[in-house]
Amino acid sequence: MTRLHPYVVKAMTAAEVGTAINWAAAEGWNPGLHDADCFLAADAGGFLMGFLDEEPVASISVVRYGRSFAFLGLYIVKPEHRGKGYGRALLVDLAKIARDRGCGRMEWAVLDWNDPAIQFYRRMGAKPMDEWTVFRLTDDGIATLASS
Ligand SMILES: CC(C)(COP(=O)(O)OP(=O)(O)OC[C@H]1O[C@@H](n2cnc3c(N)ncnc32)[C@H](O)[C@@H]1OP(=O)(O)O)[C@@H](O)C(=O)NCCC(=O)NCCS
Repeated sequence: MTRLHPYVVKAMTAAEVGTAINWAAAEGWNPGLHDADCFLAADAGGFLMGFLDEEPVASISVVRYGRSFAFLGLYIVKPEHRGKGYGRALLVDLAKIARDRGCGRMEWAVLDWNDPAIQFYRRMGAKPMDEWTVFRLTDDGIATLASS
């Protein structure tokens, strides 16, 4: 894992996953109430946190849902620590894990208005998948479909 002294990246504990979910809520991403439990059940090892002198400052998740698919999320650096290289260091660690596991693809979603993140992803060589649209059913829609 990356050591950008004194920045260290480690696997998250369950409590730290809760912290990352709270950061996601603070970003206005509206995480589900049981997201942490579901993610942990799917892949307890799929969460990385960056620490600065023991203080958690950055998070990313790569939850594996099978042999060949992992969903990347919770990519957040605490606002006061942005722009110092910690976010990029997390993605470099992910790329190393992907390469070493023989994984041929990394994909994630970004909100259309998040231009700083989009420009950053383009600069690091990622390409937008413009022809794809994400569809989502939430509680009510699932219940309606299930009982139809
Ligand atoms: C996206 C994010 C995780 C990046 O973490 P970070 O530690 O700030 O990023 P780094 O310091 O490693 O810099 C990464 C890139 O972003 C650029 N960047 C950093 N701060 C920036 C800012 N305020 N505006 C525009 N670009 C910025 C850097 O130039 C760098 O690009 P480069 O490597 O091509 O020069 C962080 O900004 C963040 O938490 N944003 C809010 C949550 C979010 O949007 N997450 C992504 C959802 S898809």
